[in-house]
Amino acid sequence: MKGLILSGGSGRRLRPLTHTSAKQLVPIANVPILHYVVADLVGVGITDIGIVVGDTGNEVRASVGDGSRWGASVTYIDQEAPLGLAHAVKVAEGFLGDEPFAMYLGDNMFEDSLDEVVEGFDGSVAARLLLAHVDDPSSFGVAELASDGSIAALFEKPAEPPSDLALVGVYLFGPRIHEAVRAIEPSARGELEITDAIQWLLDSGETVEHRVLDGWWIDTGKKDPLLACNRLVLDRLGGDGVVVDDGAEVVDSTLVGPVVVAAGARILHSTVGPYVSVGGDCSIERSTVEHSVLMQGASVTDLDHLTASVLGREVEVSGVPGESVRVSLLLGDHSVVDVGGSGGCTDG
Ligand code: G1P
Repeated sequence: MKGLILSGGSGRRLRPLTHTSAKQLVPIANVPILHYVVADLVGVGITDIGIVVGDTGNEVRASVGDGSRWGASVTYIDQEAPLGLAHAVKVAEGFLGDEPFAMYLGDNMFEDSLDEVVEGFDGSVAARLLLAHVDDPSSFGVAELASDGSIAALFEKPAEPPSDLALVGVYLFGPRIHEAVRAIEPSARGELEITDAIQWLLDSGETVEHRVLDGWWIDTGKKDPLLACNRLVLDRLGGDGVVVDDGAEVVDSTLVGPVVVAAGARILHSTVGPYVSVGGDCSIERSTVEHSVLMQGASVTDLDHLTASVLGREVEVSGVPGESVRVSLLLGDHSVVDVGGSGGCTDG
């Protein structure tokens, strides 16, 4: 079985972070999301992997490389524009050929391994889907089940969802999907929807199996789910949940686990955690930071306190010494923000 990771897409819901960087490369516990995705596929024996890339292709290539670090072989496939998940399958047809494949959305993360999901799938049935119970089904593709428990129909982001079972970001397909993606028309949002392609398979009398997930699953494409994912992954750390890489400096500070601190970071006179990922070369001085992701080179100074925030690369946030204010920020790379003082806010 081959793997197909989708890493195009514009990341609209994570702007401004995604103006300068791919949403699939945002770090969770200091590791890019896409690296977990590659590792998951390799973990179930899928090593021949295609990655569909768009505008951020060069950054993705630089981060994942040829896949040899995971024992995988990675082929990059260019998608000229983010025209939908089914469009991505279309542009990957040359790579996929007639083999069964696992399609994995590059911004999705799962608690459990995909062992049970891929077990026994050889492409002789047209598709196997993964479903999860969610609170907000109208934000997803939604499955309607028949009385025998099989999938009766699928709807993409329905206003009135027929169930709370969302399509989650791993799909297994046999070769008939190629006919389906050629047969469908773009949706109202102008995309070729994989949901419509699978509905086409159902309408053509093909078998579409499904599994319902037990463990957590997160589509990290928005700030709050991204931070929830960071918390869930940090919760897996053993011991006191405090991991400080060699070459990081922590002086006169309290680290409240779980927290990870990457090499080159400096934490002075501060309280950091719980649930904070401090990226390489970050600096936190005289501040309190909790429930946040700080990307490479970000700095927080004299701020009490920063919570539920995602700071892009080289972001500078400062507060006023002795003043207490609680802020939550989503900032793109190189933003400069003064909180509470006379300064304004520039996003650059
Ligand atoms: C896409 C699919 C949707 C699916 C979701 C899972 O949505 O279209 O059916 O439920 O991924 O993350 P999008 O992220 O493109 O809005």
